[in-house]
Amino acid sequence: MREPPTREQLRRALILVKGEIRWYEPLAPLTSLQVGGPADVLVIPSDVEDVIRVVRGARMSHIPLMVLGGTNVIIRDKGIRGMVMQLKHLTHIQEEADQLVYVQAGVRLPRLMQFALGRKLSGMEWAAGIPGTVGGGVVMNAGTRLGEIQDVLHAVDFVTINGKRKRIEAATLTFLYRKTRLPKGIVLGAWLQLTSAAKATIQSTTKQYLQYRKATQPLTLPNAGSVFKNPTGDSAGRLIEAAGLKGLRMGDAEVSTKHANFIVNRGTATAEQVLTLVRKVQDGVARKFGVRLQLEWKVVGER
Ligand code: EPU
Repeated sequence: MREPPTREQLRRALILVKGEIRWYEPLAPLTSLQVGGPADVLVIPSDVEDVIRVVRGARMSHIPLMVLGGTNVIIRDKGIRGMVMQLKHLTHIQEEADQLVYVQAGVRLPRLMQFALGRKLSGMEWAAGIPGTVGGGVVMNAGTRLGEIQDVLHAVDFVTINGKRKRIEAATLTFLYRKTRLPKGIVLGAWLQLTSAAKATIQSTTKQYLQYRKATQPLTLPNAGSVFKNPTGDSAGRLIEAAGLKGLRMGDAEVSTKHANFIVNRGTATAEQVLTLVRKVQDGVARKFGVRLQLEWKVVGER
């Protein structure tokens, strides 16, 4: 493995960046499950041009760079070497043409839904209660039974790892279950093609859906969304429950008693405990049903 970058190398690579730079920043508070170690450096670019400066700086110095959305990702306890970037200042939304909305990557889905409702635009109701960002949503083709990003995505505002900005038409992309095939680089924003609808209709669909989620998912405890992908024709939650694993604990990490395909943090869980629990669930389900559950989460960082 390559040597981790030194503080001096990181500092030099970030010299042109205007946004915030935080050294050895704990990342657990930036994730929805609240586990994991620090980043060598956390960069919070001030705008799109600044993101491009970070990308170019990292590229020229061969420093690893990752974007942290924070909702579907588990960071291991020793944290992340290199640069981590948070796009929380990329929060612009605008209706550019009829029902065509441009939204920057750092916008959270609930805010996008509020915006759409305000303009009587339908198409995002499926996202009710999903806390993630637009950028993360595009990268993982976020979705629920009601719909997914690919249904509304028109084009992606993108910067390649070489720092070249480009627009990628959705028609040229391949969408898989919880994954969009994109070139190497960073999503800066998205154009979403929504449709007109009555405000009351959008509101009632959203409300109904939110109620279902609140009733069936442990939304009041720190969690990172569904742990496993649903195997074809079955459901991970059903399999985990039927294997008798609901409520299983490792320290403060617990297989939710409300929905078995969620792991919740009951206080001071570590990434190690969470990932041990993941393996125990996989093993338990495999033993009982012969099915190996695949993680929906992305796991990053050092053990
Ligand atoms: N079930 C159980 N036990 C449980 C949980 C669920 O038997 O503890 C059964 C339910 O009774 C139901 C089936 O499993 O028959 C499916 O459960 P549910 O309707 O809750 O949906 P899901 O497939 O577990 C998916 C998404 C969720 C999304 C919900 C609602 C995946 C992996 N998960 O869950 O997405 O909120 O549908 O649309 O596709 C996420 O991806 O992070 C996420 C939360």
